[in-house]
Amino acid sequence: MLLVLGSANADLVVEVSRRPGAGETVLGGDTAVIPGGKGANTAVAAARLGASVSLLGALGDDGYGSLLRSSLHDSGVDTTLVATSSRPTGIAYITVTPDGENSIVVSPGANSAVTPSDVDAVDWSQVRVLVCSLEVPLETVAHGVRAAAEAGVRPVLNLSPVAQLPEETLAALDPLIVNEHEAAQLAPSFDKLLDLGPKSVVVTLGARGAAVVTPSGVTEVPAPSVEVVDTTGAGDAFAGALSARLAAGDDLTAAAAYAAKVAALSVTKAGAQPSYPSASEVAG
Ligand code: RIB
Repeated sequence: MLLVLGSANADLVVEVSRRPGAGETVLGGDTAVIPGGKGANTAVAAARLGASVSLLGALGDDGYGSLLRSSLHDSGVDTTLVATSSRPTGIAYITVTPDGENSIVVSPGANSAVTPSDVDAVDWSQVRVLVCSLEVPLETVAHGVRAAAEAGVRPVLNLSPVAQLPEETLAALDPLIVNEHEAAQLAPSFDKLLDLGPKSVVVTLGARGAAVVTPSGVTEVPAPSVEVVDTTGAGDAFAGALSARLAAGDDLTAAAAYAAKVAALSVTKAGAQPSYPSASEVAG
């Protein structure tokens, strides 16, 4: 089983011809309300591909929380570990420009209420891989990675949004997932990323696929060329697909090659969760 530790947000998405500058107003299209959040996206992406997935997170007792619960259920994600918080469901305010690029402001709400004691409720005996992202408190993620490693579970972490990780957390990761901009800030070359401490690193390269960095070297895997509609949630699709394949027993390079294909397909449709392909769509 794959356990996802991360956020669930309602995405309020508006198409704009360009983003406003400070003090400026621009008119956009109609607002779409779409289930999102880096954790829920990762879980839904993996479940659509046929993985057995559980999400550890929190939602508010409100309409957006119901939207998220429905999307998770409809995709087959187990929500036993999704708490109902007295805080509102997280919201992401997203603008999408005609080139398919997005910019996002997140109001974490209930996601801030996911605590280390929630992690202590996990039965690790059924879990093969833990995948985390960083819209829930760093303290909780660090606790989750430690608990997973102690239980012999493989911890994966998508460094999104970017944060400074404790050394102990970094050292347990197999892999740390970063995008190429973060990779460039963290180290002068891909092979030097291992000096940060993780057992392996996967660098996502957008339309060019991904690079897998292990002590044996750097291997690039390609992505199919596609027409970009909306890149929102592509990194989460990558993390979900990669972790699903690792849980199924693939090696890291095979899992990354599959994930690059899944992420490419996800950018051909609008939104995060609604854009994720099934296993048969990936195969076709
Ligand atoms: O990675 C995309 C996600 O980031 C969106 O779904 C939004 O909720 C923000 O968390």
